[in-house]
Amino acid sequence: MQQLQVIQITHDAKQLIILDQTQLPNHENYLTLTTLQQMWDAIKLLQVRGAPAIGVFAGYAMAVLAQYDQHTNYTQFKETFDQQANYLNTARPTAVNLSWALQRMKNYVVEHKEDTRTIKKGLIDEAKRIDAENIAMNQKIAEYGLTLLHEGDGILTHCNAGYLACLGYGTATAPMYLAHESGMHIHVYSDETRPLLQGARLTSYELFKAGIDVTSICDNMASIVMKQGKIQCAMVGCDRIAANGDFANKIGTSGVAILAKYYNIPFYTLAPSSTIDFNTPDGQHIHIEERNEEEIGEMWYKEPMILKDIKKYNPSFDVTDHSLLTAIVTEKGIVYPPFDVNLKKLFNHQ
Ligand code: MRU
Repeated sequence: MQQLQVIQITHDAKQLIILDQTQLPNHENYLTLTTLQQMWDAIKLLQVRGAPAIGVFAGYAMAVLAQYDQHTNYTQFKETFDQQANYLNTARPTAVNLSWALQRMKNYVVEHKEDTRTIKKGLIDEAKRIDAENIAMNQKIAEYGLTLLHEGDGILTHCNAGYLACLGYGTATAPMYLAHESGMHIHVYSDETRPLLQGARLTSYELFKAGIDVTSICDNMASIVMKQGKIQCAMVGCDRIAANGDFANKIGTSGVAILAKYYNIPFYTLAPSSTIDFNTPDGQHIHIEERNEEEIGEMWYKEPMILKDIKKYNPSFDVTDHSLLTAIVTEKGIVYPPFDVNLKKLFNHQ
């Protein structure tokens, strides 16, 4: 499978290089990041985006920042490291993978009270492990997800949970890639995903480049393609799964889930375990990021399409109630309702 490199570090781990996703699909540009502020901005501005990719990015970001730290004293090194991680964590609140990866890097420092030179090297390896584990998890998600697909299926997806957002096979796209590789014919309908157009700009781009049969539709066309019988299931990614199975994903996802329920179409979310947050009991406790109002009225248009003084509201995610969800596909298997019981069982969570 031919892919652009989304996140990489240089050999000396002094530079973090990312594909600038804000420039896709027309420009494949790379950015070189070396400072904390550049890294924070890259997440905030969605130059790097998608919950699992943000997690992998955060691991590498902390490894790179550590290389610039001059402290030889462990306590001072750790203090700076924690401060930097805490700051990076403020860039995007909804995707739990960010805090998950930062916590893992912080834990590494706590568990390795060694000289700072050794810790710095170890942090590079830890970031690489997060990256490799994520890709392996997506492979397993692909295998489990494939069992839910049939020859000739039409699949609706929302936003972008492909390799640009999750690396490897992606999450929601993972079974699609595997189906395609194994010769199965599928057809994907990709919602445009207003206001940032991740579906139009990124998902259809990714799938098309991979040779997968994909059709781009506007968000308000999901209902008609379902009614016309073109959709046999919906597969989406997610940014945080609460303990009861409620999950946050890109704005518009819950609307797709409600439609799927109405038309009796299976609705799946696919995610690695790093997206499951057992500390959040249900969707009401998930913090939803609100973004700049220009994204609604001005971005992508030659001139503003909503008068300046009109109020705008731009929640970036919504929560899909677990009652609308057919199953959650993870690297450990497919979880069916009751999610509060079965998620804990599969992940051995007390
Ligand atoms: O705001 P973004 O572009 O980072 O949005 C995240 C997403 O791409 C989606 O919500 C996605 O379906 C989950 S992340 C794999």
